[in-house]
Amino acid sequence: MNIKEINKGIHMLSTSIDEMLFEGMWELPHGVSINSFIVKGEKTAIIDGIIGWDGLPETLYESLGKIDINPEKIDYVIVNHMEPDHAGWLENFKKINKDFTILTTLKGSQMIEPFYGNSVNVQVVKEGDTIDLGGGKTLTFHPAPNVHWPETMMTYETSSKTLFTCDMFGAFGSLKDHYFDDEMTEEEVKLSENEAERYFSNVLTTFSMMVEKAIKKTKEFDLKVIAPGHGPIYRSNPQKIIEDYEKYCQFAKGYGKNEVAIVWGSMYGMTQKAVVFATEILNKEGIKVHSIQMPNDSESEMVSSVFKSAGIILATPTYEYKMYPPVAHALDELGRKRINNKEVFRFGSYGWSGGAEKELAQIVENHKMKWNFIESVEFNGQAKEEDLSKIESGIKQLIKNMKSKLIK
Ligand code: FEO
Repeated sequence: MNIKEINKGIHMLSTSIDEMLFEGMWELPHGVSINSFIVKGEKTAIIDGIIGWDGLPETLYESLGKIDINPEKIDYVIVNHMEPDHAGWLENFKKINKDFTILTTLKGSQMIEPFYGNSVNVQVVKEGDTIDLGGGKTLTFHPAPNVHWPETMMTYETSSKTLFTCDMFGAFGSLKDHYFDDEMTEEEVKLSENEAERYFSNVLTTFSMMVEKAIKKTKEFDLKVIAPGHGPIYRSNPQKIIEDYEKYCQFAKGYGKNEVAIVWGSMYGMTQKAVVFATEILNKEGIKVHSIQMPNDSESEMVSSVFKSAGIILATPTYEYKMYPPVAHALDELGRKRINNKEVFRFGSYGWSGGAEKELAQIVENHKMKWNFIESVEFNGQAKEEDLSKIESGIKQLIKNMKSKLIK
């Protein structure tokens, strides 16, 4: 666990985890950091905690000792978010500290017992409520519901103008050498941006309307530092992550980069050959391609690639009178994530009868995705010259359609 001073009396304690599936399902090729924060005045508060397994609470206690904080004497635990990656340590903490108060929203207070058992002091906070820790440190509380759970809130420290946002403004990606935006190399910044896109698309995008509300609230603060529960601390330019998050909310509405995500599956290579042909055309047009083969490739990457691309190609054969199941599953996941209004083109092979097209329409309608489809190209067995010519025309049309949806 690493300890970084954000301001006098304010520290971040951060650990990075590689070997887990986030929410039990999202792959973490670059890991994820989990950040806790200590604010020390005459009284001491810990904001957001840490996942409660693999000896992490004990590691947290040891780390607190290094900054002269006795965990047994912590006065307040600020629960911005009840999800166990931040609050999972509470059950353990109750064993070592018999006299602390949890500050959380009303909804949060109702979730403590089912998740972490009873017997703790809980004080419900509302918008603008304040706790004076003494020593010049004051915390104010700001509910930001449904980012992505209903109980979520942000906490603001007035003297340092630091906003502790938990999942809001978070990013996947381990923190190893550099913890602040101004310390990061160009390469690290690029990776962190990519990991923020992936984090948002995997974890928050279903709730992007509520994230927009939280962004609006964030803009009301006099801000020097944004300190999220995952990812780097933004102290040199906190506006950057706010603007990035605004852009991500637009991605969820169908806008995207000048990139195409090809989500495809193939049993015997017929559809795959057409994917290779499509990729060559897009490359010639100078458009970056994300080629995601289902089920081989990561679902996390699939969701992220579709989320940030202005153009989507679904390449799926017919399988037992329906879509090839791994691609149908991918489409269903995108619908659940409410990634709507995308510009889309579909092609794929069939053996003796079609059927993929019918299921495609059902899934899109079921999730009210409002995707704008170009006429599909289906071919019997291998794609012939005339089929490839139709695919080429479809891709040219997709590129035209994408133009109204482009953002950088
Ligand atoms: Fe980082 Fe929703 O927990």
